[in-house]
Amino acid sequence: MADLAIVYCSVHHGNTKKLLDAAAEECGVDLFSTEEAKKADLSHYHAVGFASGVYMSKLHRSLYDFLSGNPALPKKAFLLYTSGSGGQKYGNSFVALLKEHGLEVCGVYSCKGFDTYGPFKLVGGVAKGHPTPDEIGAGVRFVKEMAERAGHE
Ligand SMILES: Cc1cc2nc3c(=O)[nH]c(=O)nc-3n(C[C@H](O)[C@H](O)[C@H](O)COP(=O)(O)O)c2cc1C
Repeated sequence: MADLAIVYCSVHHGNTKKLLDAAAEECGVDLFSTEEAKKADLSHYHAVGFASGVYMSKLHRSLYDFLSGNPALPKKAFLLYTSGSGGQKYGNSFVALLKEHGLEVCGVYSCKGFDTYGPFKLVGGVAKGHPTPDEIGAGVRFVKEMAERAGHE
């Protein structure tokens, strides 16, 4: 399987990081917080993933900041994110940005993540228990697929 790096930011409840930790354990993918990624050379990986929660309808700003530094990256990319609502379109603007940077986006995975932001805190949060074990398993399968695809092409 191919060597993958994932650059992530998971600040609310560590929901996204739960998916990534499971993927790291099962597929040996290397994880870099956005701060760590700034100092790392990711160009030798076969593909790079980006991952975060959704905050005000977008992925975390630090992912955009990381890309705006024009780091040397492999040509293939993929995206994972979690959100309180489970919306499927939150990744679109980041995918467009990856393409603008000349990256081929091989896939996107998203699922719900426990959310206690703002008024949701008053009702004990929404999407309790997410990501579920099934969602984590599907996320791991997605990362494996990305690794296989990056290795074959
Ligand atoms: C400041 C803030 C804004 C958020 N905005 C949204 C949003 O626009 N849509 C949504 O579905 N969830 C939203 N959420 C919920 C998070 O996307 C969700 O809890 C996610 O799983 C957090 O990931 P993390 O724990 O990896 O940081 C927001 C959470 C926070 C803290």
